[in-house]
Amino acid sequence: MTDKNLTPDIDPAAIDDEKSADKAVKKLREAVRYHNYRYYVLDDPVISDSQYDELFENLKILEDKYDLATDDSPTRKVGGEPREELGTVSHPLPMQSLKAVYDEKGVRDFAATCVKELGHNEVEYVVEPKYDGLSIEIIYEEGLLTTAATRGDGTTGEEVTANVRTIRSVPLSLLEDQGESVPSRLVVRGEIYMRLDEFNRLNRDRLVNNEQPFANPRNAAAGSVRQLDPGITEKRPLHLFLYVIAQCEGRDFTTHWEMLQALPRWGLPVNSKMQVLTRDIEEVLGYHQKLSTTRDDLNYEIDGVVIKVNDLSEQQKLGTRQRDPRWALAFKFPPRSSTTVVKDIQANVGRTGTLTPVALLEPVKIGGVEVSRASLHNMNLIEEKDIRIGDTVLVERAGDVIPYVVKSIKDRRDGSEKKFTMPDHCPSCGGDIMVSQDKKNSRCTNMNCPAQLKERIQHFASTRALDIDGLGDKRAAQLVEKDMVKWLPDLFRLGKEDFLKLPGYADKSAENLADALRQSRKTSLDRFIYALGILHVGEHMAGVLASKYQDLDQLMEADKEELQNIPEIGPEVAGAIVTFFSEEHNRKALEEMKNSGLELENPLFRGQGERPLEGLKFVFTGSLKKWTREEAKKTVESQGGRATSSVSRETDDVVVGPGAGSKLEQARKLNVKVLSEDEFQELLEMKKD
Ligand code: IVH
Repeated sequence: MTDKNLTPDIDPAAIDDEKSADKAVKKLREAVRYHNYRYYVLDDPVISDSQYDELFENLKILEDKYDLATDDSPTRKVGGEPREELGTVSHPLPMQSLKAVYDEKGVRDFAATCVKELGHNEVEYVVEPKYDGLSIEIIYEEGLLTTAATRGDGTTGEEVTANVRTIRSVPLSLLEDQGESVPSRLVVRGEIYMRLDEFNRLNRDRLVNNEQPFANPRNAAAGSVRQLDPGITEKRPLHLFLYVIAQCEGRDFTTHWEMLQALPRWGLPVNSKMQVLTRDIEEVLGYHQKLSTTRDDLNYEIDGVVIKVNDLSEQQKLGTRQRDPRWALAFKFPPRSSTTVVKDIQANVGRTGTLTPVALLEPVKIGGVEVSRASLHNMNLIEEKDIRIGDTVLVERAGDVIPYVVKSIKDRRDGSEKKFTMPDHCPSCGGDIMVSQDKKNSRCTNMNCPAQLKERIQHFASTRALDIDGLGDKRAAQLVEKDMVKWLPDLFRLGKEDFLKLPGYADKSAENLADALRQSRKTSLDRFIYALGILHVGEHMAGVLASKYQDLDQLMEADKEELQNIPEIGPEVAGAIVTFFSEEHNRKALEEMKNSGLELENPLFRGQGERPLEGLKFVFTGSLKKWTREEAKKTVESQGGRATSSVSRETDDVVVGPGAGSKLEQARKLNVKVLSEDEFQELLEMKKD
């Protein structure tokens, strides 16, 4: 399908002959099918829910008016085709959808129909939030969870039992309700969702790991449940609200309200705080009004309220249509998405130097909040969605979630739009930019970049780096804010008098920090390399480099090829090291530090060829007398060996001190060689010769 007819702009009221109706219906069907596929199969919709609802509604109006409905029309079906790789489950009863309305008139019409059909005006309703997640059916047999399935096309869903079993709020067995035995068969339905704080955290982690973020919590929940590997589902923060019992053998209910009360007694999760039983349609409207203004205070997404006739025999009497029941209605909230124009795209430098493209938008109100910026996350996302400066875009904003650009609307282009390219120098400091191999991420490599300085100082001073006592996060921030540190070398020039000018320092604390800074200038090469915060160079890698290069100058001159000759260093790491040391600002800063009395010793240096422990794996356990655990580890690593924390068949030697416990036992069990500290020292001597 071409992008032009993703959202065909068809107004049913403007169509007045059968031929154009037929043409319009075909276009709308094609579009609705495509969006079903994006939403249900790919979990990656490209239009907002309200846009979808509009297409669907227009299609239905035309089909009804011109009698054009066919059996294969998407208006006859619920949802999408099941994902093939997952097994399928036939639902014992169809899983239907809900008719949606967006205004009070729609609700009053619904109530009027109920009153008319049921023949009395005391109809009782249950009103609940409409949870925005993934619908799920869960079956318990003799109290045990046996099957879980997605809605799929309403008749057949995907089998996701193993995945759903990993969700903590889903009980694997039912509790007995006040001594009564559990139903022999219970089929419940509800919505799996992700909380907003957990969703934001998940997306942050995904970005750090170079994975595309999820557009919204619903997609995240759906994508997490529809996994082939339950191990992945298990790691995702998922929750469940149940909203109906579809079948229950061994217990009769007369109302929907009774069902909702029974669920928690079996240990099944419902959102009991948010259900109302009422005969007053004004109260229904008030509930909707109240929730629409307080939905942002919730830690999960809801997109409307669901109104259900309470009495089950009345539900039966009202019956159902093709895809939705006549006894229930969704009264949706106004859409939380809107179109606006991308005025510009800027690269923002984060605290760790990562450049994030941000769309500057023509300000637009979405869900009551003015939105003027939206993160575009990374270059890949911009390219995949082909978002250009000047484009009209669809922007979505969920509760506490940062605004998200869903797509650009290509048929609004007039040719003046411009493609965005990442700057090749940092917009904050002009430093060199390093692009990751997969081209997804760009990072400023200047360790003095003001946007990164606070974070850099914190890392520089941390225990495993230069271990500058008294220079914690707050004090680091203060030094930057008061302009006392403009780049890292300034740290080595600060004295007691400088600190005394700042709030929060007394004579003693100022002196202590000045001392700590003075002492930190004398350190080991491996600590100093680690302190520089070079991308991909953690403590272990810093040790590897120090064992290979006698001093900082040697390391600074190493080229990529030479670095890649070191067994543990691949092209990405070598590239990061070379880029870091060739960056103009970094070279200047290192020169400046040397002039301020930086003194580096290198006890780890073994030279280029000497790796006597190459390929050997050690585990240290018990309290060692001659070394700290950390020193022993570094010694091993500097000579090409590895020190790990758990004993396995791959371990070559376990070095034990007094008090060794389970690791020693494990070593004996696996027949791994056990050495005393003396024996370990002998081994080192022997290997040296
Ligand atoms: S009742 C026959 N109650 O909305 C209708 N559905 O758009 C059974 N949903 O498929 C559904 N919250 O996945 C019901 N409180 C609620 C709901 C709810 C969310 C979902 C459900 C349904 C979809 C229809």
